[in-house]
Amino acid sequence: MAFDPLDQPGIAVPDQFRSLADLNPQPYDKLDVDPYTRSRVILMNGIEVESIIFSHQFARHTDNLEIKQALALSRRIEQQQQKVVNGLNPGDQTPLETTIGYEQVAVDLTSWLARNEPDPQLRQALDFALLEDFDHLYRYANLYDLIDGKDAATLTGHLTEIMPGRPTMVEHRHPFDDVRPHFDTHTVDPLSRLHVMTIVAAEQQTMNYYMNHSAEFMEPVARGLYSEIAMIEEQHVTQYESLLDPLDSWLRTWVFHEYSEVYLYWSMSQQETDPRIKALWEQHCEMEIGQLQVAIQFLERFEGVDAREILPVSLPEVPLTFQENKAYVRQVLESQIDLRTDGTRYVALSELPDDHRYFQTQALYGTDRAPSEQVIDMVRERSGREYRDQTEGEHPVVDLRDPVAAER
Ligand SMILES: [Fe+2]
Ligand SMILES: [Fe+2]
Ligand SMILES: [Fe+2]
Ligand SMILES: [Fe+2]
Repeated sequence: MAFDPLDQPGIAVPDQFRSLADLNPQPYDKLDVDPYTRSRVILMNGIEVESIIFSHQFARHTDNLEIKQALALSRRIEQQQQKVVNGLNPGDQTPLETTIGYEQVAVDLTSWLARNEPDPQLRQALDFALLEDFDHLYRYANLYDLIDGKDAATLTGHLTEIMPGRPTMVEHRHPFDDVRPHFDTHTVDPLSRLHVMTIVAAEQQTMNYYMNHSAEFMEPVARGLYSEIAMIEEQHVTQYESLLDPLDSWLRTWVFHEYSEVYLYWSMSQQETDPRIKALWEQHCEMEIGQLQVAIQFLERFEGVDAREILPVSLPEVPLTFQENKAYVRQVLESQIDLRTDGTRYVALSELPDDHRYFQTQALYGTDRAPSEQVIDMVRERSGREYRDQTEGEHPVVDLRDPVAAER
C-alpha cells in the first residue's frame, strides 16, 4: 500500500522532547548484532547529523525570528534523535571496527542506490565512488588484521566481499575533476532526489568520522591510512553535493530533508531484524512526519508553495534496503575499474592526455609509498598473505587478483 506521509498524523514537534535517560539507550551486542542493523544505525546517525548541520546553516542564513525559533526547536529534537541512534553503538566496538562498518555501509548503500537509480548520470556517479569505497573496506580490513590480528568478516558477516576496488592510491584527483553537473529540481525524479540527499549525508558523516578519528591511533600506518582515505571522502562529498540543484530555497530544502528522513526511517523499519530497534525506527518515522508538517507550514506561509506540488504523491513503493550486492559490485568492478574523471565527465584512464592534471595530482601524492599500499605490504610481510574475503571466487579484474594466492 502506498504510504503518503502527508496523510499521517505523526507526533507534534513540541511533544517530541525526551528525558536525558532516554538519550542513553542500551547499545546492541557487537558479537550478536545483524551486520545490517549496524549499517542502519550508522546510516541514520549520518542522516541526523546532516539534518542538524543543515539546520544550523539555514539559521545562519535567515533573519526571520520565527523561522530561527522553529529551526532551533526542530534541531533540538534532531539532536535527541541523533543521540539515541548513535548511542546504539556499543563502547566495545572500536573506532576501527566502526570504520569497517562505515565502509560496508558505503558499499551496500551505494550499490543499492545505483541499482535503483533511474537517472543514468546519477547512477554513474554512484558506480564511480562505489569502487573507491569498496577499496577502502579492503584497506581497513587489512589494517584490522595488522594491528588487532582480527578478521573483518566477523563484522561484515560475509555479506559484503572484501578485496581490492579502484586502488585508493589512484583515487587522488585534482579537485576540479570531482565536480559534476547537477540535476534540475523541476524535472528530477523524486526518487533521485532522495538518493542523492541520502548519499551526501552518508559520505559527509564518513568524512567527518575519519577527520576526527585519525589522530586517535598510535601506529603511523593507521594514522596515515585514515588521513589518506579522509581525503578521498572529501572528494566523494564534493562529487555528491554537486549533484544537488542549488536553485532550491532553504525552506524547500528543509521540506526535502524532513521528507527524506521520513522515507529513510520508514525504510529501516520495514527490514529491521531487532524488534527493539525496529520500534525505534517506527517512533522516529512518526517524529519526522511531525517535523515535516512544520517545514511544510513555513514553506506555504513564506513562499506560498503547496508542498503537494513539490513532493511525490507517496513514498517510493520499495524501501531503501540493506542487502547483499556482490554480483552488482563485481559487474561494476569488471566494467569500470579504469574509469577516471575529466572536468564534469567520466573517461577511461587511457583517454587522459599525459599532461592532464590528474597525473600532476598523482605525482604530488605519489612521492612516498601511500599508506593504503603500505598497510598491504606490512600484512604480506608479516603473514605471507594479505587479508581478503572473496566469497564468490576469483577477483573479476585479473590485475587485482591476490599474487600470493595465485602462486599457491
Ligand atoms: Fe531527524
Ligand atoms: Fe570510503
Ligand atoms: Fe566514500
Ligand atoms: Fe527531521
